[in-house]
Amino acid sequence: GIGIGPLRKATGAVTYDPGFMNTANAKSSITYIDGDEGVLRYRGYPIEQLAEQSSFLEVSYLLIHGELPTQGQLETFVSQVERRTLLDERFKRMFDGFPRDAHPMAVLQAGVSGLSTFYQDSLNPFDEEQVRLSSVRLLAKMPTMAAYAHRLAQGHALLYPDNRLSLIENFLRLTFGFPVEEYIADPVVVRAMEQLLILHADHEQNCSTSAVRLVGSAQANLFTSISAGIGALSGPAHGGANAAVMEMLDQIRAEGMDPRDFMEKVKNKEEGIRLMGFGHRVYKNYDPRAKFVKKIADDVLERLGVHDERLELAMKLEEIALKDDYFVERRLYPNVDFYTGIIYRAIGFPTHMFTVLFAIGRLPGWIAQWQEMIHDPETKIGRPRQIYTGAAERDYVPMAART
Ligand code: ACO
Repeated sequence: GIGIGPLRKATGAVTYDPGFMNTANAKSSITYIDGDEGVLRYRGYPIEQLAEQSSFLEVSYLLIHGELPTQGQLETFVSQVERRTLLDERFKRMFDGFPRDAHPMAVLQAGVSGLSTFYQDSLNPFDEEQVRLSSVRLLAKMPTMAAYAHRLAQGHALLYPDNRLSLIENFLRLTFGFPVEEYIADPVVVRAMEQLLILHADHEQNCSTSAVRLVGSAQANLFTSISAGIGALSGPAHGGANAAVMEMLDQIRAEGMDPRDFMEKVKNKEEGIRLMGFGHRVYKNYDPRAKFVKKIADDVLERLGVHDERLELAMKLEEIALKDDYFVERRLYPNVDFYTGIIYRAIGFPTHMFTVLFAIGRLPGWIAQWQEMIHDPETKIGRPRQIYTGAAERDYVPMAART
């Protein structure tokens, strides 16, 4: 729609586009999505090839620097990240101050925001060397903070990172090492984690990435901008969906409900319920990440010898949906979150950690998008217009005269 009235007089026509369904806020060379065909590429490389052959830090390098690294560049980058996983002792103590039942996304957001207090020399968004260092610190320290958020909830002591391990092995050990000496990460689990993080690493102008860009457009520092992204990702319509899928599957099972009856409720929009993990603003076809995730779910469950009836239930719901007019007409297919929770649960993560894992994965995308925004000469401070619908001018009514 087009805004008319006083606003038009002052500024010309205004486009009314709630949810930015048709409004581009950036030109970007990072991620390409064809939602109709189910295509996703980072810097031109198909997501399937990256998930199959690359590592999370190599993909992080690709997203942030624009090209795949040479062997030497990758080794330097990996070692820069892997030796920065420790947190300042005082900062580490901050994590003890949160209540045990705090949501780990809230702890992570506070932690990332807190990095601004420790690296005050790195806050100038235009100092490229300092931004590079901040990016490396974020990649290194966010998994440590995520593991601390988990241990806090468990009431377990916080461990020190062991920088002889890879970033992901270290993260798994920091999270699950209890007692420390006995924890050895299973290579199948490590590889699955790498792949899941790669699949989540960027997704162009989604809600959290747009939040990072919007906050950054005010020239707020990288840590602060990323913490805004974590806040956006915590919402159930975005990153919280993987947890919501598990809750939905648990509820169907707890109530002993027939999957078909549940789907009828969804279709009738009873109590506003949706089939969580289904549908996507951009994909109107099978989410290419969901296909891959289903394969990882099979591998990990088989390797760990886990039998999870939720996987069967999820597959049943998918089968019903793919044949049902309601879902077909609306072009609703499984998105990346439909099966991830089942894998995370098999590895040992509680539900409230799922979105935290998504945040670790999305981090390189947020960094790359923030950098692109900062260096784009066409960037302007993000400042949408509105269509005013409130009262016309009226006079203040003194309290005694109000009825
Ligand atoms: N279950 C049932 N119906 C649905 C679903 C769903 N999961 N998703 C959309 N619909 C229906 C809507 O009711 C609407 O139907 P109507 O025209 O009869 O009213 C139609 O499909 C279009 O839905 P919109 O909400 O307009 O689509 P939008 O693009 O705004 O929403 C979203 C996308 C938020 C992802 C939505 O599909 C949803 O809520 N899905 C469930 C939550 C989820 O899985 N989120 C994860 C997103 S992916 C990610 O963050 C990684």
